[in-house]
Amino acid sequence: MVKRRTINIGFIGLGIVGQGVWKHIQRNRAELEQRLGARLVLYRAAVRDPAKKRPVRIPPSRICVDPLAVATDPKVDIVCELMGGTTLAKKATLAALKCGKIVVSANKALLCQSGEMLFRAARKGRGHFYFEASVAGGIPIIKVIREGLVANRFDLIYGILNGTCNYILTRMDQESLTFEETILEARRLGYVEADESLDLDGWDTAHKAVILGHLAHGNWIKLRHVPVEGIRRITLEDIRWARDLGYKIKLLGIVSRDSQSGKIFVRVHPTLIPKDNILAHVDDVYNGISVTGDIAGTTVHIGRGAGQDATASAVISDITDAVSALLGKPSTLPAEEEIGGEIFPAPEAELADLSEISGHYYIRLNVVDKPGVLAEVSAVMARKEVSIASVIQPKVSLGKRATLILTTHTSNEKIIQETCRNLKKLKNVLTAPFLLRIADFKD
Ligand code: NAP
Ligand code: HSE
Repeated sequence: MVKRRTINIGFIGLGIVGQGVWKHIQRNRAELEQRLGARLVLYRAAVRDPAKKRPVRIPPSRICVDPLAVATDPKVDIVCELMGGTTLAKKATLAALKCGKIVVSANKALLCQSGEMLFRAARKGRGHFYFEASVAGGIPIIKVIREGLVANRFDLIYGILNGTCNYILTRMDQESLTFEETILEARRLGYVEADESLDLDGWDTAHKAVILGHLAHGNWIKLRHVPVEGIRRITLEDIRWARDLGYKIKLLGIVSRDSQSGKIFVRVHPTLIPKDNILAHVDDVYNGISVTGDIAGTTVHIGRGAGQDATASAVISDITDAVSALLGKPSTLPAEEEIGGEIFPAPEAELADLSEISGHYYIRLNVVDKPGVLAEVSAVMARKEVSIASVIQPKVSLGKRATLILTTHTSNEKIIQETCRNLKKLKNVLTAPFLLRIADFKD
């Protein structure tokens, strides 16, 4: 009988994801080991509170409180960073990579902030860094873009990348619950991150969009160059009016590349998606990503974007790649910048300006209900050459106030934002205009 190599796995963090990985490796150990030709040992783990009761039973002798001890343990072959955060997690990840270890990470915030540094450290230490679980949980989107669609150039990738926001928008749409009611529900179900702003203000989606941007174009777009809007201002009425207009509202992360100029734009905002677009039907905590490549055309990927099992599935996939790398089996491509020991840096991406992003818009105005107000509004829009496509004044009694829902023909981000600023200055416009983008993606 051939003696199998033993691979020791060290965990930094045994929370929702860490325990899921531990549990599923235990459950499927025989099949995994058979496929890999190696013996997997859950060697040790670092946690904050070793006394905490965990649904997954872990022998106390394997638990410590020092992430760096796991990261640098000479006996650990693969380090799974499943702790989160960008300070200690970064220190531990860099320490492990410096030792030449393979790191598997689900930490999208860290990757977005320090991806370049982590990749460099992996190259320098001759280790690897795998991150399938960082975007869209159980959907193997990293492999899809990096491997399956490697032949393509990507003019458009867009998707629902945050399960929590999608759950909230779905419940508002299907159950007519307010944002405040659904957020309570999402909190109760444990969907919302400890720092809620990551989900609700669009930052988690932005982290994932930046990672997708890197995979597609080879550049780490700085978060400060990404316009990010969350879902807090969306009302039940916006959802109803969007529905009447033939749309669903979804929070999208969008990575687009102008095929002529090659300029790249990464953005995050709630978007009105036509009901006949597949992503309009991706509901609850599910994620959905549309990837358009110049050769393959459009492929759409849907699945559970968060949660213990889906995320564990992605982490275990990375662990199996890591084992293959340790055994010298060619199962994945090398990091994209390093081929055959030679470094091929991607050319610096040119970022598109707001004025180069065009589309259709939805504007909700809270106005004084009296003659001439609509004329004032349309005059502001006409001065900016924004053409109105439709106007609705819902028949609801708001006393001396009224709501106006306007949609526009094609304009651009710069002009529409200036228009909204000018509308806000009108005495008869009572609150800041609420702007949503309407998806006019071809696929
Ligand atoms: P979690 O449940 O909060 O678990 C965090 C783990 O890290 C806990 O075991 C905690 O220890 C440990 N930890 C925290 N600070 C520590 C410290 N200073 N020293 C040692 N251990 C420490 O988080 P999670 O949901 O599993 O998420 C882990 C990572 O996966 C994050 O980067 C997250 O963004 C990412 N992710 C999560 C999901 C998801 O659905 N949850 C999906 C995709 C990606 P204690 O248990 O003792 O508190
Ligand atoms: N908070 C994230 C979400 C977790 O709701 O999608 C998965 O990355």
